[in-house]
Amino acid sequence: MARLPHLSSRLQGFGTTIFAEMSALAVQTGALNLGQGFPDSDGPVEVSEAAVEAIRGGQNQYPPGPGIASLREAVAEHQQRFWGMTLDPETEVLITAGATEALAAALLALCETGDEVIAFDPTYDSYAAGVAMAGARLRGVLLRPPAATASDAGSRITSEPFSFDPDELRRAFNPKTRLILVNTPHNPTGKVFTEAELDLIAELCVEHDVLAVTDEVYEHLVFDGRRHRLLAQRPGMAERTITVSSGGKTFSFTGWKVGWAVGPAPLVAAVRTAKQFLTYVNGAPFQPAIAAGLRLGDDYFERFRADLEAKRDLLTRQLAKAGFAVMVPEGTYFITTDIRPLGFDDGIEFCLQLPERAGVVAVPSAVFYQDQRDGLPLVRFCFAKADDFLLDAGQRLIDALTR
Ligand SMILES: Cc1ncc(COP(=O)(O)O)c(C=O)c1O
Repeated sequence: MARLPHLSSRLQGFGTTIFAEMSALAVQTGALNLGQGFPDSDGPVEVSEAAVEAIRGGQNQYPPGPGIASLREAVAEHQQRFWGMTLDPETEVLITAGATEALAAALLALCETGDEVIAFDPTYDSYAAGVAMAGARLRGVLLRPPAATASDAGSRITSEPFSFDPDELRRAFNPKTRLILVNTPHNPTGKVFTEAELDLIAELCVEHDVLAVTDEVYEHLVFDGRRHRLLAQRPGMAERTITVSSGGKTFSFTGWKVGWAVGPAPLVAAVRTAKQFLTYVNGAPFQPAIAAGLRLGDDYFERFRADLEAKRDLLTRQLAKAGFAVMVPEGTYFITTDIRPLGFDDGIEFCLQLPERAGVVAVPSAVFYQDQRDGLPLVRFCFAKADDFLLDAGQRLIDALTR
């Protein structure tokens, strides 16, 4: 990537992303956008009505720095109800401008210049930038695609998860390691970390006295009867983990940017210190609305999960018919595919041509890797879209790629 004038050395390389290019292509060509990770319909009306009511009711000025009390209480209730985690809403819950700000504030608050931050590679794109802004260094531990897909051994659909080499993880911990970032369910791979994997991470964090920050924005999108597990609840981790999530994905209001960081009071106080000078506060009328969302009955969360699981299955079938090797995600709303069975091997080139060729936009997974070569033949599709839209996009891919 070309050097940008004026930009600090810390942020060189983070100039423009392929997302801008892909979105421009989508607009130019009128292609169906399965690239970006957002749903194409609004979330529950009880939640949007609560926001309208809050605006009309005058909740429009700066809310308290840590977030309004009713949302902090709702986050604490939610963590207790779904995950059995007990929190003091006064000192152990911080409301943030989406998960993105919580992650950035945690990195800025907890890292010294020169510290190392471990993250599973590929990563959500804000991690590398957040680590760089904190003056730290990202150390990736590779998540490898399932072997059957890598070699295309017959079946076009595999339910095997991405996996990492435990020894590579062990080797990543060193005296400079300050913290590990763990995203489960994981974007872009759809991996849901198992109890055994989290136990290994916990063991290493305790052994090396390393902190953890988790990103759990897809906590309610875990499929096939699996359970979402929290690193904070593994042995020795409660006192060293900040757990981050947000209302964007769970309630399909990604533009509201209401998130949270929870954990032990001293860690939350550190994150709050950085957060107060980033945005101070945000989204006053959206805070009571997300509180209402978090208090919806279990049926809402169950329906949300089941709907997305059905959409995953629909798009999986279409992508396999079009000739992709499909890695069925265990969670999130993204499917990773391998384009090699289609006779291509460069996902970036493939995605740049796809709007013209098929009228569909997808994202090359390579952009999420520290070394793009590690994910070059992989392409990510988002399935948080209406069924008709998914069917249409699937048919376009089948028509264009199987001719
Ligand atoms: C893994 C992951 N973390 C964080 C975010 C951003 O969350 P928010 O919109 O709450 O900042 C996303 C959004 O796509 C994501 O995929």
